[in-house]
Amino acid sequence: MADNSKEFDSKEAAKFVNLSLEVFSEKAKSLKIPGWKTGKFNENSLRKYFEVEANESFDSNIIAISNQKGGEGKTTISLYLAEALSLEHKVLLVDWDPQANATQLFLKEDVPSVMDCLGYRGRKTRTLKSIIENVAPNFDLVPSSLELANLTTPYERDDFELLREALLPIRSEYEYIIIDCPPSLGLILENALICADYILVPIQTRAFSLQGIKDLHETISKIQKKANQRLKLLGAVLNQYEGQKALSGLAEGIRKYFPVFETVVYRRESIPQAQAKMSLLSKIDSSTVKNFKDLALEVKEKIHVQKN
Ligand SMILES: Nc1ncnc2c1ncn2[C@@H]1O[C@H](COP(=O)(O)OP(=O)(O)O)[C@@H](O)[C@H]1O
Ligand SMILES: [Mg+2]
Repeated sequence: MADNSKEFDSKEAAKFVNLSLEVFSEKAKSLKIPGWKTGKFNENSLRKYFEVEANESFDSNIIAISNQKGGEGKTTISLYLAEALSLEHKVLLVDWDPQANATQLFLKEDVPSVMDCLGYRGRKTRTLKSIIENVAPNFDLVPSSLELANLTTPYERDDFELLREALLPIRSEYEYIIIDCPPSLGLILENALICADYILVPIQTRAFSLQGIKDLHETISKIQKKANQRLKLLGAVLNQYEGQKALSGLAEGIRKYFPVFETVVYRRESIPQAQAKMSLLSKIDSSTVKNFKDLALEVKEKIHVQKN
């Protein structure tokens, strides 16, 4: 997906890397940076040659996408909500699932992963910033790997705050940070909920369990009381919706525990297709992108209401 990054002419490229056009052009020529002959530069290659400093800082919003059941649409909503938000905002997607589904969509080879950045049980650490991959304009990814599955037992008090600590130095570089959570309750999920400001719960409308929703609600309440009073529920998003008539009854059941988004995510074949092709949704199906743009808008409205 590297070819998705922005194209710049020399002047824009110089500005992007914070150099004068003269100094930039000289450097581009001497380092033979791709584009030095044509005067057309690509964001990804510029990032390889220059340390591009974030020149803005944001009051970032961290949103955990969680539901302890698998197959509810956590990864799907994380990906395409992030993609929709990245059209206007700087977005970081944190793959926080040992299954690393989101990571595998973007990266073919093994790369350093989030577990290398946590310092869990004295493990050698890198900074989170050093492992971030840019996957599209305004859209960065923290890769995961199976090793994250080792984060099971809290040995020290701090072990609940490993993700929070790792994200702190970079959170102001992003307007939205989306955490794709694992299908489990436990230390991995608790780390996500302790560092998040908001939670969004995807719920698959065809086969759904009210008991599962009750359990998640209990976990969230516990974290809100004991460890993270900032944590707010954005609500549940009905996924794979196919126009079921029984929907209002279903939404009623869910509303006992969570507010329900007005926007639903429709069941669309283009979603698994985009994932199979390892492509951004916008390259496959613009009408489904619209669905996620609506969701992004409602997320932004809900955050705005919560803040004021
Ligand atoms: N709205 C949708 N329309 C069609 N397929 C979907 C939709 N949402 C999710 N899927 C498919 O369902 C499967 C599970 O979704 P996923 O996002 O991986 O769930 P989770 O991360 O909660 O385990 C994936 O194969 C995904 O492509
Ligand atoms: Mg997933």
